[in-house]
Amino acid sequence: MKRTVLLNPGPVNVTERVRQALLKPDLCHREKEFSDLMQSIRSKLVRAFGIQNDYDAVLTTGSGTAALEMAVSSCLGEGQSMLVIRNGVYGDRIAAMAKAYGFNIRCLDAPWGEPPQLNDVKRALEQHPEIEVVALVYHETTTGLLNPVHEIGELVHQYKKRFLVDSISGLAGDPLDFNRAHIDFCVGTANKCLQGLPGVSFVLVRKTELARLEKIPERSHYFNLYKNHQAQEKGDTLFTPAVQIHYALNAALDELLEETVKGRIKRYGQAAAMLRKGFQEMGLEFIVPEGHWSNTLTALKLPEGISYKFLHDKLKKKGFVIYAGQKKLSQSIFRIANMGDITTEEFQQLLDTLRKCISAPTPS
Ligand SMILES: Cc1ncc(COP(=O)(O)O)c(C=O)c1O
Repeated sequence: MKRTVLLNPGPVNVTERVRQALLKPDLCHREKEFSDLMQSIRSKLVRAFGIQNDYDAVLTTGSGTAALEMAVSSCLGEGQSMLVIRNGVYGDRIAAMAKAYGFNIRCLDAPWGEPPQLNDVKRALEQHPEIEVVALVYHETTTGLLNPVHEIGELVHQYKKRFLVDSISGLAGDPLDFNRAHIDFCVGTANKCLQGLPGVSFVLVRKTELARLEKIPERSHYFNLYKNHQAQEKGDTLFTPAVQIHYALNAALDELLEETVKGRIKRYGQAAAMLRKGFQEMGLEFIVPEGHWSNTLTALKLPEGISYKFLHDKLKKKGFVIYAGQKKLSQSIFRIANMGDITTEEFQQLLDTLRKCISAPTPS
């Protein structure tokens, strides 16, 4: 049977090796075998990104938002405030999370599909010295826009602030230089460009931040970054982890180390270029200006007279799952991600099928 090709930005199609890893023997998380598995994952994560000297990986069971909540809730000193740079749904989510914890926040908003202006970031940092942490989404999956993480990180560092980056859909998909961006907390997940399965996510935390985190009062019992780090350093977990999903992530990280992060970014970049050439030939319109595109997601205007539902259902019948726009973009765009284990032939078939759907749009 032909498989379904997932063109949503995660969960992604995984390899047979990753899927088979789920079938390893049942395991108690308090046994040495799980401890070894967890340490292997933590070590492979930092090695894959070449950051093993300066960062530790802290895992949590849950989707990307779980790790994001672990970072957001644990990173701000008492009485300090957070600057949230927003230009999409995921920036809004960081702000909503920070509000739920009762934090003082300032938001710097740019239009969806446009990068924030560096001068605005600079002004906010100058005018509000109480800001301790700046939060940014690297790849804003809402639109497929890549935010200028390195330039903003340099500013954050210049003003001696901490930098929290949601790279849930960016890690291993687009280039990220942790040192140049001066990242203190980087949030990622198993089931997007890492090509694992959903259920485990993580924070890559700068080791020198840990002493500061220790002094911050516990705000969440489950998602305390410092305490989870302490336990994991000893080879332990605070709570019951999704054991089998860890097996799958370990296999996915073996594949990532074999392909290398650089190699994966290149593969995704080539897939995106091929798709975009096809979209342009079909006359489809992009919502993000060229130069700000990520390697892994393209947001396109729905052609005149074609609804998302029509396009989605037609493509799904042919084995392709596309993704809707969110919130104010839900009626006007559709999104095509190219993350995961997808072949060039499958991308070509998608283009051929999409071309037919939009050139003969009679509902059937
Ligand atoms: C940038 C970004 N942040 C956060 C999330 C939320 O991740 P999850 O749905 O795994 O909780 C997503 C999901 O697509 C995302 O793309």
